[in-house]
Amino acid sequence: MVNWSSVDKAAKEWLKEAGKSIVASFETALQIDTKADANDLVTNIDKEVEQYFTSQIRKTFPSHNILGEEGFGDEVQSTDGVIWIIDPIDGTMNFVHQQRNFFISIGIFENGKGKLGYLYDVVHNELYYAISGEGAYWGDLKLPMLEKVEVSEAVIGLNAMLLTSNDVKNPLISIVKDVRGTRSYGSAALEFAYVATGRLDAYISKTLSPWDFAGGKIIVEEIGGVVTDFKGEPLNLLKKGSVIVAKPGLHEKLINEYFQEK
Ligand code: IPD
Ligand code: CA
Ligand code: CA
Ligand code: CA
Repeated sequence: MVNWSSVDKAAKEWLKEAGKSIVASFETALQIDTKADANDLVTNIDKEVEQYFTSQIRKTFPSHNILGEEGFGDEVQSTDGVIWIIDPIDGTMNFVHQQRNFFISIGIFENGKGKLGYLYDVVHNELYYAISGEGAYWGDLKLPMLEKVEVSEAVIGLNAMLLTSNDVKNPLISIVKDVRGTRSYGSAALEFAYVATGRLDAYISKTLSPWDFAGGKIIVEEIGGVVTDFKGEPLNLLKKGSVIVAKPGLHEKLINEYFQEK
């Protein structure tokens, strides 16, 4: 049996420590490299933060598995057992260019079920978290269940790249026309946190990796939000894919009225 309150305590302590080291790094020269393309940035801090978490987890919870963006975790092939899915810095471009609007994201799952979710806004020292079955929180504040909203009154987060395809039937074009407004923040974790707190009504992304959505999915689902791919299917915790996270009702409308082939 996993003692979830000790896992929660450790995760929060490590998030605070990692946050302090990230803030301290603002005074140092960053080593910036690129990954898949020239705009896909990674820094020494992304790597150091992931290494910090992996070494703490391995020391404290040796039976737990780790899936991390920067590759210091394990080669996770199945969702059996306890898995920590970690994004050491979500919004690296914001971290490099703005020194804000980036989060640490952690989702902890047991046999594929979300148990503990954390989204940490390091610069504002604000932690969004959820303990499955016990509620979701923004700091000390318990977050209320999410309520329904109409498409015409919805403010949604998305990346402008979604509108650049030549496909005239791109459902995103109609969504952007029909909603009240759109926002683009450049951090999936931030956008999940904003859906959880009602600052956004939905967030849509064509491709996210497990570490981009793991922490946020646990938090948003705890308060009645719905998280699926563009087909309305559950997300695969080990694969990248499309993501729609939205308030109840709004999610159903977006899937049924925009994404489903008529
Ligand atoms: C990225 C951010 C961004 C999303 C990208 C992600 P990273 O994560 O979440 O908002 O649009 O798909 O890769 O690389 O900064 O951790
Ligand atoms: Ca990255
Ligand atoms: Ca990310
Ligand atoms: Ca990252």
